[in-house]
Amino acid sequence: MCGIVGYYGPENPKDVILGGLKSLEYRGYDSAGVAILNHGEFKRVRAEGKLSTLQKKLEHEAFDGHLGIGHTRWATHGAPVEKNAHPHTVRGISLVHNGIIENYLELKEELGPQAQFTSDTDSELVAHLIAGEIESTHDLLASVLRVLPRLQGAYSILVVSKDHPDEMVAFKNGPPLIVGSAKGAVLVASDVQAILPYTKKVVYLNDLEIAHIKGESFEIYDSRGQALKKVVTTIDWTAEQAQKEGYEHFMLKEIFEQPRAVARALAPHVDVAKHTTNILENTGLAERFHGIDRIAIIACGTSFYAGQVGAYLIEKLAGITVTTDIASEFRYRDPVLSKNTLAVLISQSGETADTLAVLRQLKRLDVPVLSLCNVKNSTIDRESDGHLYMNAGPEVGVASTKAFTSTLAVLHLVAVGIARSRGRLSALDEERYIRALLAAPAQMETVLACDKFFSEAATTLKSYRGFLYMGRGVNYPIALEGALKLKELAYMHAEGYAAGEMKHGPLALIDARMAVVMLAPSDGLYEKTLSNLEEAKARGGVIISIGTFGNEKLRDLSAHYLALPRAEWSVNPLLEAIPLQLLAYHVAHALGHDVDQPRNLAKSVTVE
Ligand code: AGP
Repeated sequence: MCGIVGYYGPENPKDVILGGLKSLEYRGYDSAGVAILNHGEFKRVRAEGKLSTLQKKLEHEAFDGHLGIGHTRWATHGAPVEKNAHPHTVRGISLVHNGIIENYLELKEELGPQAQFTSDTDSELVAHLIAGEIESTHDLLASVLRVLPRLQGAYSILVVSKDHPDEMVAFKNGPPLIVGSAKGAVLVASDVQAILPYTKKVVYLNDLEIAHIKGESFEIYDSRGQALKKVVTTIDWTAEQAQKEGYEHFMLKEIFEQPRAVARALAPHVDVAKHTTNILENTGLAERFHGIDRIAIIACGTSFYAGQVGAYLIEKLAGITVTTDIASEFRYRDPVLSKNTLAVLISQSGETADTLAVLRQLKRLDVPVLSLCNVKNSTIDRESDGHLYMNAGPEVGVASTKAFTSTLAVLHLVAVGIARSRGRLSALDEERYIRALLAAPAQMETVLACDKFFSEAATTLKSYRGFLYMGRGVNYPIALEGALKLKELAYMHAEGYAAGEMKHGPLALIDARMAVVMLAPSDGLYEKTLSNLEEAKARGGVIISIGTFGNEKLRDLSAHYLALPRAEWSVNPLLEAIPLQLLAYHVAHALGHDVDQPRNLAKSVTVE
């Protein structure tokens, strides 16, 4: 979604703001702009399309001021054209906005026909409202305090005024905003990435809080204007971690980081000498696990598919009912939950609007919530009762990769932990599963060698009419995830199916132009999967199979065959994810698509 950067300080604001916006590119956007002080006025420069277009426009622009704001816009109200790009300026007020103002039409009507709008956005309306207030208050903070209660929706806003040239006011209800101070400088941003090169100490704004930046200091207020004492958080990511490090794309770098990411995800919860896990104790909710009769896993997209793998593992190992729900469905479903339910919310960004809405709904229902996030201190992390982390480091590519496999690793440990605590798993079996998990990073390294295979095969694969991904049991959600990856990156039609469901419909799709990606590792369901593969082959489907090393039969049946190292059934998903990510990456690349920022998508989906 949109990116926000604001800067006051001794450095050239143009460079700081452009650098910050660049680090937020991964969030997805379709236009960009800045407003920077020059001769006591905010000079605004905006451009449709990529940041490089804005950068070109700014090449010969000089600014003598020390304060400015910038924005990358992901269109919601109004087309992605220059007039709708932010900042929006109304009578000396300039602002940038992330999110949606839901009562926009109502407020616009209240302003009457004398208010001249130059864009089709809901954001410009807020600039009108603040400009109206400042005429009587002559105070930027006071004006925001008056406007705030009138706004409905999910938004984060950063506003400046030409009559208050050393001030910025940031406020939010929904999408994240953070403030950080460095030597003689204050930065405001929608994401830590933009601030990391300057400081690691940041303050997270909560909903309906306002940051008032004046010169090199800032104060935080509540919506009634009462000053608040806020906790300063130290970020443990480095600016370097968010760089490409020689890889052509962030996504490729993140795919290759997975062995390390999975090892990092496991590390805090495993005693490597004893081969045991203490993950339940680390959640901060250990006692809540006793007496639960149901776990409800809720998430969106890739995080949801990781949750589905987790459901198979927990049910099988711990013998407890697990339901999985897509957050955007769950929130409107009037769910019936027993008081012995524990909810597990999964979100890489920790900011996904639907998942956050579910979290608040569950809290109203008094259901304890354990979150599993990658971004520490994100809203979902902060508001949950218990916490686990993916520990994957910053994930910049819009398509989630290392956060997905790290989530699988953590959920596997949760399954082992619950199974042990319920007496469903012997110490020997715990050791077996933990050994298998600890071996996974090294096995993942070997699977990464298939990169070469897919980079060569992509030219053939890109010409298929469509892809069907199939698997059974714990491999089925991996088929769903594989199909999602191909859709979002290659813009090709792909579907994930439970292999046993093929004869109930999708078999009709199969012909020589349909690729069938079959996940067929040597596990308890292998023979069943094999017969599904033969059915697809008999109808002329082009088989790409992923099986376990040494399976010559599978090789003979397939047009393309990839062998995975021999692993415990429960670890296979970690290994299978890699070839499916590389398949999508290389096909998308061969088709000339922007792999890191697929069209129409955003990294952090902070609107409904
Ligand atoms: C992943 O490749 C997708 N871009 C998307 O499905 C993502 O997983 C989803 O939006 C959920 O995001 P979250 O984990 O940050 O909540």
